[in-house]
Amino acid sequence: MTLVRKAVFPVAGFGTRFLPITKASPKEMLPIVDKPLIQYAVEEAAAAGITEMIFVTGRNKRTIEDHFDKAYELESELAFQGKYSLLKEVQGLLPKNLHYSYVRQCDMLGLGHAVLCAKPLIGDEPFAVILADDLIDAEVPAIGQLVEQYERTRSSVIAVQHIPLAQTRQYGIVGPVWKGMRSHLISQIVEKPAPEYAPSSLGVVGRYVLSPAIFEYLNTIPKGTGGEIQLTDGIAAMLRQYPVIAHEFSGIRYDCGCKTGYMEASVQFGLKHPAIAEHFHSFLANLPLSDQRPTLVQKAV
Ligand code: UTP
Repeated sequence: MTLVRKAVFPVAGFGTRFLPITKASPKEMLPIVDKPLIQYAVEEAAAAGITEMIFVTGRNKRTIEDHFDKAYELESELAFQGKYSLLKEVQGLLPKNLHYSYVRQCDMLGLGHAVLCAKPLIGDEPFAVILADDLIDAEVPAIGQLVEQYERTRSSVIAVQHIPLAQTRQYGIVGPVWKGMRSHLISQIVEKPAPEYAPSSLGVVGRYVLSPAIFEYLNTIPKGTGGEIQLTDGIAAMLRQYPVIAHEFSGIRYDCGCKTGYMEASVQFGLKHPAIAEHFHSFLANLPLSDQRPTLVQKAV
């Protein structure tokens, strides 16, 4: 049995980069082809042997709870209509033998605060944190790669990838003190530094396996960047006393918290989806060549 049984999914954020859809709907329920982002995240955790799924929710997030609940009305209607194969499909949509809990983050005080809200449900054991808007396409589930590192080292592990230096202001950036092949012991982690202050080009991606010691630090650190309690600052305080490892996971990560990353993921997953891949391939192949397309206005969204 894995040492890491629980995963926290912070889903309370406002998702302002994705307005207007996030005005009344959770960003985590955005579909990639036909599954919401949060289901990919839960399936990733389940594939790593995690069974306790803990959601930190806020206002407008009820559809997440409904998604992981039994769909009584739909199921009885399908049974009534004799649509048994569709009924079986609906009943098999989610991984089995998982337990779901929900805790409310009443004030949006940042990712670190969201993780702290899960403390009563975590207790004194290591746990995973998964940000569903970072969608990772990997042969071995990204969180599983981190769990394996945790089990080997018994140290907190955070997922990182090389990012262009011009983008350091969008990431937590780590400073390795000892470099391995893919796993590095870090002495520094800085939230959204300017490129000239970035300790490396390794940016933190939304996957963590943390020792419960993190809660002591999240409880005491002051508000950081953006006036929020940052998970990065909690980890920075923790690594003065406990080893923390940055792991360069294998897989492709899509930043589905922004519109361009989301569209890239939709195209890539669409090209692989058994039900639509063939049609979608030919649709894309028949799009007009770039010099015939209307001029695009390049704008970061
Ligand atoms: P983001 O930085 O992506 O914030 O949070 P956001 O509100 O979701 O999106 P933008 O930046 O306004 O577009 C990273 C993750 O942390 C969660 C979010 O739901 C997201 O999954 N989060 C953030 C919380 O649960 N609570 C918070 O107070 C802040």
